[in-house]
Amino acid sequence: MSGTDKYPGQKVSVVNDGKRCIHSRYCVLNLSSVFVPNVEGPWIKPDAAPHETVIAVVEKCPSGALRHEGSVAEQPPTVNTVRIWENGPLAFHGALDILGDTSSFRATLCRCGLSKRKPFCDHSHAEVNFIATGEPPAKDTPALAVRDGKLKVTPGKDGPLQVEGNLEICGASGRTVSRETKTWLCRCGHSANKPFCDGAHRKAGFKDDGKLPND
Ligand code: SF4
Ligand code: FES
Repeated sequence: MSGTDKYPGQKVSVVNDGKRCIHSRYCVLNLSSVFVPNVEGPWIKPDAAPHETVIAVVEKCPSGALRHEGSVAEQPPTVNTVRIWENGPLAFHGALDILGDTSSFRATLCRCGLSKRKPFCDHSHAEVNFIATGEPPAKDTPALAVRDGKLKVTPGKDGPLQVEGNLEICGASGRTVSRETKTWLCRCGHSANKPFCDGAHRKAGFKDDGKLPND
């Protein structure tokens, strides 16, 4: 399950970028006929379910590891969101532009500070027992006039994620935490005001070049 692989089907093909997979297991638990891990040969079998079902499950892959190709193109959501995972990453869903990478509307980005594939999550949070609530206090923010549109995510060098665009920040349960059009989200793991940056990255000596991974 690593590297980018294409699994051709008659009506839909599935592309898997294994490096982005964070092992949420949404695919294997929700469509076990198509997503069959630990087998000899291809582990994704696009023709083993109706193509609409395959597409629906692929579009729920939170990390963007899965994409589909065929006659149906994935559409951006009508509401840009970032969901704060309990003890885990920030799961974005929107018309994402991450340092010019517009390949997916879905991405899980590191917020423990320890991923080796920053800005993407590589599941390091689980190895270090990162503790951070998925349900921070809500801010009293007005409804956004527009809830979709381009969402530009810029990981700052040695600093937070700058996010520009219409964005609803949601707790792990889906509860609205805040509504923003420009904000800075902690990705060093040390803010006392998560998910927002409070400047703690400087004292913590957080280091990252602010670029996309090379691989
Ligand atoms: S749904 Fe996506 S992130 Fe979750 S296990 Fe499947 S490929 Fe990985
Ligand atoms: S990035 Fe964590 S406090 Fe600024």
